[in-house]
Amino acid sequence: MKRILEVLSEEINITDTNEAQKRPKVPEGSVEYRSVAFKYKPDAENYIMKNISFKISSGETVGIIGGTGSAKTSLVQLIPRLYDVSEGSVLVGGRDVRNYTMEDLRSAVGMVLQKNVLFSGTIRDNLKWGDKDASDEEIIAACKAACAHDFIMSFPEQYETHLGQGGVNVSGGQKQRLCIARALLKKPKIIILDDSTSAVDTATDQKIRQAFKENLRDTTTIIIAQRITSVMDADKIIVLNDGKIDAVGSHDELLAGNEIYQDVYYSQQKGAAV
Ligand SMILES: Nc1ncnc2c1ncn2[C@@H]1O[C@H](COP(=O)(O)OP(=O)(O)O)[C@@H](O)[C@H]1O
Ligand SMILES: [Mg+2]
Repeated sequence: MKRILEVLSEEINITDTNEAQKRPKVPEGSVEYRSVAFKYKPDAENYIMKNISFKISSGETVGIIGGTGSAKTSLVQLIPRLYDVSEGSVLVGGRDVRNYTMEDLRSAVGMVLQKNVLFSGTIRDNLKWGDKDASDEEIIAACKAACAHDFIMSFPEQYETHLGQGGVNVSGGQKQRLCIARALLKKPKIIILDDSTSAVDTATDQKIRQAFKENLRDTTTIIIAQRITSVMDADKIIVLNDGKIDAVGSHDELLAGNEIYQDVYYSQQKGAAV
């Protein structure tokens, strides 16, 4: 009894554990939506999305396809908590996103939007915004994965090239690739590309995805795209329609059985044949 009391009264060093539970780091890049519903304003009548449930394993590549206004952007914005769910929950690394500090969560989730912002300064300055301590090797590796290294090297001043306000002296597609490289330098566990290769030609888009596949095995990649070719080699594709999941499957499965996917695919096939 004495010994038991001794053990029980032994001071346990739980402070660290408590701290860790309060401020856990994101352990891995899995993503899960559990019965998520969302509206921008609590008093709005209708939900922007409803009944959203799916799971993405860490390291998987997932495509999202759906018409304008189908809630693709709204959906992924819940991952880095640009907005919070109205109902249900979003889990990253097995934990509700609300249980991480914003800083930890956002450093684990890289997001590249269609309209990215570059600031005036050199290309290197802009890239280092992703990671101020990035080494030259890391910068070059990220730029190669984003298919940006070759065009950067073609500029007379290469990585020291000065970008005007908003990156005016590079093309839209080049700007997008710099933004992808910058996001990669953060070494996120999850990277979200929201229509962020729309101004990049199809062949380069393909090369970027190939580089992601080879170099970012452990990074969960979520690709929102208009083009079927941008998502067709993903592990799975989520088809969104009017804020609801219409289907989830591989390219072959969806092409065989999903009407929306078939429509998009065949309309783009026709476009390509002309
Ligand atoms: N900030 C916002 N405030 C209110 N409604 C919004 C906002 N952003 C988008 N919406 C609405 O949410 C719906 C889904 O939009 P969005 O997620 O941008 O779709 P997608 O990315 O598929 O085009 C649309 O009806 C849109 O008008
Ligand atoms: Mg969108």
